[in-house]
Amino acid sequence: MNSYLACFNPVCRAHFGVNEVIYNCPTCGTGLLEAQYDFTGINADALKKTWRERRMDNAPLSQSGVWRYRELFPFVDDTDNVVTLREGNTPLLSAPRAAAYGGLSRITFKHQGFNPTGSFKDNGMTAGVAQARKLGMKRVACVSTGNTSASMAAYASAGGLDPFIFIPNGNISYGKLAQALEYGAKTFQVDANFDQILALVRVLAERLGIYLLNSINPFRIEGQKSIVIEMMDQRDWHVPDWIVLPGGNLGNVSAFGKGLRELKELGFIDKLPRLAVIQAAGSSPFYEYMAAKGLTPFKSQEHPETLATAIKIGDPVSWPKAQLEIETTNGVVERASEQEIADGKAVIGACGIGCEPASAATLAGIKKLVSAGVIAPDADVVAVLTGNVLKDPDYIYRYHTGQLTGPDGAPILPTFGNKPIVVPNDADRITELIG
Ligand code: F0G
Repeated sequence: MNSYLACFNPVCRAHFGVNEVIYNCPTCGTGLLEAQYDFTGINADALKKTWRERRMDNAPLSQSGVWRYRELFPFVDDTDNVVTLREGNTPLLSAPRAAAYGGLSRITFKHQGFNPTGSFKDNGMTAGVAQARKLGMKRVACVSTGNTSASMAAYASAGGLDPFIFIPNGNISYGKLAQALEYGAKTFQVDANFDQILALVRVLAERLGIYLLNSINPFRIEGQKSIVIEMMDQRDWHVPDWIVLPGGNLGNVSAFGKGLRELKELGFIDKLPRLAVIQAAGSSPFYEYMAAKGLTPFKSQEHPETLATAIKIGDPVSWPKAQLEIETTNGVVERASEQEIADGKAVIGACGIGCEPASAATLAGIKKLVSAGVIAPDADVVAVLTGNVLKDPDYIYRYHTGQLTGPDGAPILPTFGNKPIVVPNDADRITELIG
């Protein structure tokens, strides 16, 4: 199968070999790159059957909820390069209480926090690490708000590569930092924000010949397509009205849009769902840009602020791709405040599901979009929970005990707080309290 890289810039569209170590187009100098394939010979019905059969198969690649669908991202010819921790395979969960909170008659969460390192990054990282191994790279690097680094550390170490991680000092949760350390990554805490560190890491990657595994890497995007492919497979190829996801660097919405377009073009699905991206209000350059409807150029935010540190990004690299996907799917971009995210998160938790703060932007955004009449109350909505509840326990404890304050120091109310109760070792007293 013929695979190549294409410049995403519509006035350039230069092509490059799939084995070139490039992250932006060398011809126009700026364009993002995307993987393209000759999909001739793809038979949707036959593949749907093959993919179902693989679920019953014990081969590691069939058990992976990413590589099971490898025909739609065939850039790896030798699957010996694949490192799988059995990523993907994440559930669709219905949550009536969250639906009611959001103003919907039903909602389904696709919970990417069930992944091996607890976030959707594993879907992309297994693909990025396969490409690194195919290219003969020995060292890999990323800047991260925490989840990419946790994932890269695990997959690189599992695949015999040396992971180098760069994170904003003091601005990632301990759960995520702990994972990077435990998975054996050389970890640098830099006194700069995510966007500044990305520029730094690009210089270092070039200088030291280290392979860059941020979402600017087009092969990670290919792996993340599997999230929507698996979602459609689990829904017997019935397309929801909406897919809602949080937006930071905007790689994931780029991957979802590309994957959905390909599924439609190849006859797997009969229509496109609408995509809704939710940003944290204090870190919402893409929201601002899209709200201006093309009247102002994209402007990065110099000091993004949010307690949802995973999406604390002021200069998202993939915004041109994200714009195309929002426009193609007749999608929308919304923003949610710190209080809205915190309350949405507690509601998702009280459904017995739980997620990390950034993921809860979905429910907060849905609530706003339903009350604004954008999403119909009876719509079929899938919200993607991107990270596991245990990624940021400090946030949870503070919320429930009324100690959470926003980046500006303003208190966040424990609307759905559930404070632990200190009791004496006294059965009568506890009986009284339980009532
Ligand atoms: N949700 C979580 C839990 C994340 O970790 C991220 C991104 C996003 C949403 C946003 O996804 O960047 O594709 O728009 N985390 C990155 C990281 C930036 O370094 O782990 P996006």
